[in-house]
Amino acid sequence: MRVLALETSCDDTCAAVVEGPRVLSNVVSSQASFHERYGGVVPEVASRHHLELVNPVVDAALGEAAVELDDLDALAVTRGPGLIGALLVGLSTAKALAAARRKPLVGVDHLHGHVAASFLEPDPLQPPFLCLIASGGHTLLAAVRDHAGFETLGETLDDAAGEALDKAARLLGLGYPGGPAIQRLAAEGDPDAFPFPVAMRDDPGLDFSFSGLKTALAYAVRELGSEKAAARRADLAASYQAAVVGQLVAKLERAVDVDGWHAVALGGGVAANALLRERTAALCERRGLRLKLVAPALCTDNAAMIAAAATHSDAAPYPEYLSWDAAV
Ligand code: KG4
Ligand code: ZN
Repeated sequence: MRVLALETSCDDTCAAVVEGPRVLSNVVSSQASFHERYGGVVPEVASRHHLELVNPVVDAALGEAAVELDDLDALAVTRGPGLIGALLVGLSTAKALAAARRKPLVGVDHLHGHVAASFLEPDPLQPPFLCLIASGGHTLLAAVRDHAGFETLGETLDDAAGEALDKAARLLGLGYPGGPAIQRLAAEGDPDAFPFPVAMRDDPGLDFSFSGLKTALAYAVRELGSEKAAARRADLAASYQAAVVGQLVAKLERAVDVDGWHAVALGGGVAANALLRERTAALCERRGLRLKLVAPALCTDNAAMIAAAATHSDAAPYPEYLSWDAAV
């Protein structure tokens, strides 16, 4: 099945052509530089940029894959969750393209997309597996028992892991998005310099919490004073990153214990983090588990993962999907 997918749920305009587990093209136009000056994504600015970028990005995806609309079996698009205005740009474009050729359309849940990134080459992972999804908007443990969906075993009670990194980066005067900035600075710092709390470690459930950590960083910065805090930014970043990753890996290990999983995958933008990948690899090595680490470009938002999810979902025939709304 050959699918053209669109993804515009947040600030990246994405289109990809995927055939089974093979990615024929995967185009991402990042708007990060437009949002950087505000320290985060401005929804209305994101929608306007999507409008400008979506057609060129779709053309590039078709061009790189050397296919035309007529060669597609179906189109796919993220219906939610995400920013409503941003989602509507992708949804309207996908509806129009599909309707013009009377092709079927698959509406995809963004989080199922992050899970489905593991179905792609190289080394596609077959269910069942346990998947940790950590992104800017979500943090959850997913039981993936088949290709068609997942069950949430636990999730964050407050901030998402990526959100915690983005907020910390803002507090430390780093750029947006915060995760990569924290990772870069942390490489020069001491992860044991500040004893930030690894929340929920002793909690028997599978939920996460990151808002206390953010407060702990704010207190540490205030106690140090602005001059000393600036001088110790690398230590603060390293200690903070270690606490975020520590919680994610502790909960992943608990979930493995509870349900006896044999295979583990990571997804979402935070899964691009080197320390998280390293710690998860060590856990899987220790416990004899198969690990699927998708390439960083398939961890952060992209449309190839949306196509991968669509490949295993029901498509709506023309004209059924014309009445679809975005599902925020
Ligand atoms: O999945 P994603 O691209 O968008 C959402 O669905 O939210 O995730 C974006 C999040 C941001 O919070 C960003 O700071 C984080 O992923 N991120 C990282 C890294 N790359 C992106 N966090 C830690 N280390 C990274 N290398
Ligand atoms: Zn995402």
